[in-house]
Formats: sequence, C-alpha cells, structure tokens
Amino acid sequence: MICEIGVLGLGVMGSSLAENFIRNGFPTALYSREPFERDRFARRNLSGYVMTDSLSAFAASLQRPRRIVMMITAGPAVDAVKDAIAPYLEEGDILVDGGNSYYEDTNRRTFEYAQLGLNFVGMGVSGGERGALEGPSMMVGGSDDAWKALAPYLQKAAAKAGDVICCNHVGEGGSGHYVKMVHNGIEYAVMELIAETWQLLREGYGLREEEIADLFDGMKDGRLSSYLAEITAKVLRYPDEDGSPLVEKILPVAGQKGTGKWTTLESVERGVYTPMIYESASVRSFSEHRTAFPGYGSGYFLTLESDCDTKVIEDALYLGIVCCYAQGLSLIRKASETFGWNINLAASASLWEGGCIIRSEMLKDIVAAYEEDPQLENLLFSERFGDLEQEREALQEVCASAMLAHIPAPAYQTAVTYYDACFAPELNLAMVQGLRDCFGAHTYRRIDQEGVFHTEWEK
Ligand code: 6PG
Repeated sequence: MICEIGVLGLGVMGSSLAENFIRNGFPTALYSREPFERDRFARRNLSGYVMTDSLSAFAASLQRPRRIVMMITAGPAVDAVKDAIAPYLEEGDILVDGGNSYYEDTNRRTFEYAQLGLNFVGMGVSGGERGALEGPSMMVGGSDDAWKALAPYLQKAAAKAGDVICCNHVGEGGSGHYVKMVHNGIEYAVMELIAETWQLLREGYGLREEEIADLFDGMKDGRLSSYLAEITAKVLRYPDEDGSPLVEKILPVAGQKGTGKWTTLESVERGVYTPMIYESASVRSFSEHRTAFPGYGSGYFLTLESDCDTKVIEDALYLGIVCCYAQGLSLIRKASETFGWNINLAASASLWEGGCIIRSEMLKDIVAAYEEDPQLENLLFSERFGDLEQEREALQEVCASAMLAHIPAPAYQTAVTYYDACFAPELNLAMVQGLRDCFGAHTYRRIDQEGVFHTEWEK
C-alpha cells in the first residue's frame, strides 16, 4: 500500500494521531523504532495502515511529496530524527514536528531543511491524548507550499468548533510553535487562577470540594464555560479509595516541561507585560523548594452566604481569564511584528476554539474583537468586552479576601495590577527615570518639551 501520510513516533500522542488519520480514511504509514510501541499499536485492531520498522521502509511506503508527522519528545531527539531521515527524503518532501519544540530551534531546523530542498514544518498540537485521537487543535508554521500539501489531511483530522476548523497556517518558520508556546503560557495562568479560586473557597470560605465542583459545573452554560472549568469539577469530585476527594491527597508541588518558562522569558525579551504568566510559571518552581509552615494563617474565616458572593468570584475569574488571553495575544502580536510573521490574531485565536486545553466560550468574543479591529493593541480595549468595571471590583474583592485569609493569590493579584496598568492614565516611571538620572546621569525626556535632559539633582 502506498500511503498518503506518515506518522513517526508511536508514543501516546503519535499513536492517537495515527489512529485519527486512519479513521479519517487516509492510508497511513507508521514508524517507531520501539518494538513495544509497534506491538501496542497493532492491538488497536485497525486496518488501512502500513507499519514499518526502518526509516527506509517508512519513506518507501509514502507517496510524493512525502508528508510525515513526527510525534516525538521535543529536544535533541528531534534533530537526531530529522538528520536520520533526511537521506531518505526527496525535494519537496515535508517533515512536520508536532512536539512542543522551542520556536528558535524550529526556525533553525526549517532553515537547515530548506538548504536541502526539504520542508521542515513546526506544528503546535494541543489537546492531549484524547484531542489527538478525536481532533486536536493544530497551529501550523512553515512555508505556504508545505501548508497547501498538508492542509487536506490536517484539517480533516483537526477539531471543529461549529464551522471553525481548529487547524490552520499561522505563518512562516517557527510561528506555529510560538503560538503553541503562548497557548501553554495562557494555560498555566488560567490553571493558576482556578487553583487560587479553589484554595480561597476551600480554606477561606470553608467550602467542601463537592460544593466547589457545583460552582464550576454551573459555569458550563455561561460566559465562563471552558474545558478547564469542566475538568476542574471532575478533579474536585474524584474520590480516593476512602471516599475523600483525591485532590486533597495530591502533593502540592507542580511540574512543568518548559513552555511556561519560555513564554515568560520571551515576554521579557519582547518587552511585553505578562505578569500572570510569569507568576504561574514561577510559583510552580517555588512549590518545589519551599518549606511548609502548617500553623501559618490569619485565623480569619470568610463567609460565603449569598449568590452575590458566588457572582463576585465568577466575575473575578472571568476578568482574570480575559487578562490571561490579553497577555498571551499581546505577546503573539509583538513577536509577529518583530519576526515579520504577519499573524492574523483573530484566525490564530480561532484555532483555540476547539480541541485544545484553553478552549472556552469567551474565545468567540476574543476572535470577534480581533476581527473587528485587527490592529487592536490590547484585548481589554475592545468594545466587545464593554465596561468591565464590575469585574474589576470583583477582582479587587477576591484579592482582598485572599489577603485577609493569608492565602497567596499571585494570579488574581497580578490580574488587577495588569488591568490597572493597562488603563492607568500614567505609570509611575517618571520617578524611576528621575532616580536613574540622579545616580547615573541616564537622562530623561519631558512631557512638555522635546529632547533629552539631564539634571544635577544633588547640587
Ligand atoms: C496541550 C498541553 C500539552 C502539555 C504541556 C504542558 O496543549 O495539549 O499544553 O502540550 O500539557 O506540555 O505541560 P507542562 O505543564 O508539563 O509544562
């Protein structure tokens, strides 16, 4: 059988995506160097594919131009496989990297392949194992030509959110991996907000997991409807063997594979303010090294008595999440300008409407906001979101409650800071400039005169 598409790497994500292609009727070539992965795939009882155990057989089973989706762990292995398969490829063939690779590595690999007349395409894939099987969100970089050859296959296998196909070409080079990196930065920040909400409700207001789960379940028909809210309720309800919520037994130390840290470092590099992404990545690192103080606390108990209090929490969470998207999309906007990627922010955000971890109801408004104004400087400024003053007050209340109860809430607190920093008539940097000029003659500019000034402050 000559196959139309190939999947290289049959780990959890690779085998699920392979099954997705096969179920969509594409004759698919598969390769894994691991015998146990090949055997495990055979137990899926599918037909319409060719399993190979060498790169030469794999390449030989694919029609030209070869379309190969590589699903292996990001890092040195990607270079190793890319170099190992290159001798079996011919001009115009396409190797897609579907892992969470760093975008600068993708830029380099794309260039190296182009020198050989081959196409290297960095593609962000989101949705975990289930997404890969049933339809992931796919953010595709690389050349236009490669995209044209890949589109019919990837778009068929991708998630659909109504009429929206959650797979498209984002831009050249590493832009697909960049958008996926930022997706993960947003994912980190939204999860941190959810975790803070849980802790506040549990420790501050004394709610039980089941009651908190009810609150998250109640979000499913409103503007807070999202995949993460849906699975929060599931995690909260899941019982351990003794019937108590399993989440209470999980060691509060969070792992990370790097994309949140990369997003933070990128924000600093591009000069884009993303404090919630920074806080959510660094609090994970902090959780690994901190010492616990079981007796610490204010002893202050908050009371959640009315629907009104619940509404405050929902409003705060809503604006907090809008701020997460605003920070991530501002970063993509700046990177696109810097690298000349020409990313369409509305189209990019629409790729997150289905299949991915940050899919949510509010993405409809986010997409519409960028459709209405493609040059929109910040999502918060869009008329789509109207007057957010009530939500701003809710954020303030949640932050104050957390402080009263001695509960750290870095994502909520930086959400208010971010909101205020975006809307404040001025920031306080005049003082910083004065101090810099005072101790180091770094000069300053004035609001009322052109030019650059220096003052002998200590004369
Ligand atoms: C996705 C996820 C997925 C994974 C990330 C985050 O979009 O399907 O983002 O890529 O969960 O690698 O992992 P860490 O939290 O371990 O950094």
